[in-house]
Amino acid sequence: MSEARRPALRPATPRRNRDADWDAWPVDAYLAENYRRLHPCDIGVIHHHSTFYRGFAPRGTARSLELGAGPNLYPLMLAAGAVRRVDALEPSAACRAYLREQLTHGPDASWVTFYDLCRTLNPTLPATLPEALARVRVVAGDAGDLADGVYDSASMNFVAESVTEDFAEFTVLCEAFVRAVRPGGRLVAAFMECMPSYRVGDGPVWPACPVDETALRTVFAPRTTALRIARLAKDRTLPEYGDTGVLLLTAERPAS
Ligand SMILES: C[S@@+](CC[C@H](N)C(=O)[O-])C[C@H]1O[C@@H](n2cnc3c(N)ncnc32)[C@H](O)[C@@H]1O
Repeated sequence: MSEARRPALRPATPRRNRDADWDAWPVDAYLAENYRRLHPCDIGVIHHHSTFYRGFAPRGTARSLELGAGPNLYPLMLAAGAVRRVDALEPSAACRAYLREQLTHGPDASWVTFYDLCRTLNPTLPATLPEALARVRVVAGDAGDLADGVYDSASMNFVAESVTEDFAEFTVLCEAFVRAVRPGGRLVAAFMECMPSYRVGDGPVWPACPVDETALRTVFAPRTTALRIARLAKDRTLPEYGDTGVLLLTAERPAS
């Protein structure tokens, strides 16, 4: 990790989710670093998640959740072939403003490349990106606001491990993600592997909890069935966030 990006020394007390100002999430810098072009890790995540959604009947699912959607549109696109309504739950005012602007005035041109790949891998997706995004509702709130069993499926990308330094709180966030779906509901997720607290651009340090496959199994195996975890190699075209790659998860909430 370059000197400029190296976080301050980890404080004796881990920073928890509420200690960061999520309303001030640096949307423009985050998009510039991660999503203005298709990186190899996006291609890997899109292939993985497309396989997950191809297992659904086209538009046979009533309601899905994107937990901590941020300004990332591609998980929302991916769900559109399977799901009639996607709730993009997001605590950050800055992220919600970006999402609403994209839904109202049309997506930035840079997202079209992402959509072309999503649609190649899942031809049941609508013909155009705006049609796919028409299924999305932006919802203010965080994981603590989720009711039990409301959704048929849920997706979470780079959230639970990227918003707290406290492994116990990471576990609580993952638990809320699992419990958001009804018994038998399906889950798909991506996690930065072994990522310490990080900077976006030259901004503040955001709290993160380094997790590996063993940590994911510890959290998800007792709470889910059909747990599968895959791994993508570290993407060296991204800024140096201190991660060792990406972990990809599918699972189901037990039927009873
Ligand atoms: C690293 S960003 C990931 C954004 C996006 N999911 C993506 O794929 O790029 C973490 C996101 O989690 C959101 N977040 C922070 N605390 C959260 C919480 N308690 N529950 C749900 N989302 C949270 C942040 O506002 C931010 O949008």
